Amino acid sequence: MKKAFVVGHPIKHSRSPLIHGFWLKQHGIAGSYERIDVEPVNFGRFLRNFHEQGFAGGNVTIPHKETAFAGVTRRTERAERLKAVNTLWIENGVLWGDNTDVLGFMANLDQSLGTGWEQAVDNVLVLGAGGAARGIVAGLQDRPMKRIVVANRTVSKAEDLVRDLERYSAVKLEALAWDELDRALPTSQLIVNTTSLGMAGQPPILIDLAKVPGNAVVSDIVYVPLKTPLLAAAEAHGLRTVDGLGMLLHQAVPGFERWFGVRPEVTPDLRALIVADIESAT
Ligand code: ATR
Repeated sequence: MKKAFVVGHPIKHSRSPLIHGFWLKQHGIAGSYERIDVEPVNFGRFLRNFHEQGFAGGNVTIPHKETAFAGVTRRTERAERLKAVNTLWIENGVLWGDNTDVLGFMANLDQSLGTGWEQAVDNVLVLGAGGAARGIVAGLQDRPMKRIVVANRTVSKAEDLVRDLERYSAVKLEALAWDELDRALPTSQLIVNTTSLGMAGQPPILIDLAKVPGNAVVSDIVYVPLKTPLLAAAEAHGLRTVDGLGMLLHQAVPGFERWFGVRPEVTPDLRALIVADIESAT
């Protein structure tokens, strides 16, 4: 039996077991995917030992993504770019790490908007400059666009992000102060919220969507609630929206394929299962 895990601390709210459990059943694979709570002090030992415990690999979540990056033997180029690893596997006895958040975000945009969507996008506005924003900028900068503007409350973090990532592509990266956000709105064809604003229990993100071009797309990586105040406002303005659940579902695809040998699909049935779970929890 093939076994995989999601390791974090805390871990009990992770929805990954539901996603991988759905695919295991769908494909009739005799495998398991379990939550493992490991405190930071014990993570190094876990990384060295999981293979001996019979695991093919697994996902890494908060707060271990940077430690996992430092602890693996080989990394994909994507993981190098982000200095964070969320997917582990063993290949010919070697411990590998990848970062599939990047792939998840981009695959969700491609599925939601149709491939080639970036041809209608010159400028992107990314709100926030944390770990999630880095993954999103890393994904977007591989597509042909002119400029990605990163606006953050703490502008120095946006400047750090730009400095770290701009060497990887010809797309121009630019940091913007939060109180100058309005300046970027009229030229942005894609706006992505990567901050925690709009999450259940947090204040909403307030941007003046009347200033945004009518063909713009508004995307949020927050998925509880699924329709964040930002996405609801975008809909009310007649703008296209992409919600945050798709990224969560798509980031799981490459890991499942590595551990269990089948490339699974993100289908409406899977989405409905996770939506029902989110709704029952809120
Ligand atoms: P993650 O790794 O999930 O992206 P993070 O690194 O804590 O999480 O980043 C959270 C992001 O939300 C940051 O960009 C943060 O802005 P700061 O860098 O200024 O802290 C942003 N954020 C959180 N609360 C915010 C608020 N009330 N207003 C504006 N931005 C906020």
